[in-house]
Amino acid sequence: MPALLSCEITNPPVCLPLIAQRAEILLRLQDHPESELSILLVDDRHMARLNESYRKKKGATNVLAFAMQEAEEFPVAPVILGDIVISLDTAADEARRDGTTLHRRVTKLLIHGLLHLLGYDHEQSEAAAIVMAEKEEKLFQQLELEERRGKMIHLAVNVDHVATLRQARGIEDPDPVTAAAICELAGAQGIVVHLREDRRHIQDRDVHLLRQTVKTKLNLEMAASPEIIAIALELKPDMITLVPEKRLELTTEGGLNVTGQKKKLAEVVSTMNKAGIPVSLFIDPDSRQIKAAKEIGATFVEIHTGRYCDARTDKDRETEYVLIAAAAEEAFESGLRVNAGHGLNYTNTQRIAALETIEELSIGHAVMARAIMVGLDRAVREMHALILKARG
Ligand code: PXP
Repeated sequence: MPALLSCEITNPPVCLPLIAQRAEILLRLQDHPESELSILLVDDRHMARLNESYRKKKGATNVLAFAMQEAEEFPVAPVILGDIVISLDTAADEARRDGTTLHRRVTKLLIHGLLHLLGYDHEQSEAAAIVMAEKEEKLFQQLELEERRGKMIHLAVNVDHVATLRQARGIEDPDPVTAAAICELAGAQGIVVHLREDRRHIQDRDVHLLRQTVKTKLNLEMAASPEIIAIALELKPDMITLVPEKRLELTTEGGLNVTGQKKKLAEVVSTMNKAGIPVSLFIDPDSRQIKAAKEIGATFVEIHTGRYCDARTDKDRETEYVLIAAAAEEAFESGLRVNAGHGLNYTNTQRIAALETIEELSIGHAVMARAIMVGLDRAVREMHALILKARG
């Protein structure tokens, strides 16, 4: 057990297994997966005694680090690194002062102590203090990403084609609003609809009713056009996904050209963010588009899986898969949240769902096509089960 955590406080206000797990992730991130570290959580009285004995200072402090070896150099793994002592009383005061949670504060103190054990020292010089502060921040962000990786995989069902069938007859049935409720009852964690400028399937009435009835998450797919932007701002969906839209296409073809219209898209992202609506950009698995999406402040990207799904040979499919996996990794590492979709069906979805950087799949046509044969409830349940199995 590389990180050994003990706590002297009865009923501590922190989750000890979580702190121990974070310590192990931090050791791994610092290339010390096998090194040993002991962490002790104490109260202010105990901390004051340690502070007096070892540093000749009065009163408690937040964290003390006792290195096993007084290393000038950064210790090479594996090694016994030493002890980190954290005062939960002081950490709690600091958390209140900073408006943060006790877990976040304790984690930051843990990182601070660990960096001391690894040879960083902010007391050496101003430059050393800057290096250590930057390293602390970076490690904290890396930890957050590691904790998010592989955590969840959601199925969001696109109900556009229920509306397509309705519009074919120009009557009221079938209703995408009813379909959305059935999808949610079957386990879908999100509902997606594309309000197209030509209103070929989803209508304004649908999005308004869905806004009132969707219990999970309503993702409005849309073009960055003034009319639809105004509707989105009034509707306030849980998120929007910006897609390119051509009147003659059968379905969305290709991802957004973010690099080519950065200024325009940045304005839309900013307007939506001010209204509290997170924005996803539907993009091809292309590093330039990911960088541009990050630069203009998008919260999510949705990686276009169409070329992978449409590939006719194993070799082409493999090539496209590798592109998607790399793009998802790059986007995730940059801090973007990653969704994927288009063309996913009951045979090609599991490989994509297994990618730990992806948190949501948006699937429409395949689920609706199966629903005609086996019913919507079963079609959604089967797809959901496939995805969860892929993630293990
Ligand atoms: N994601 C986006 C951005 C889309 O435009 C679509 C199609 O509406 C989908 C996902 C779902 O694609 P499919 O219907 O092929 O599952």
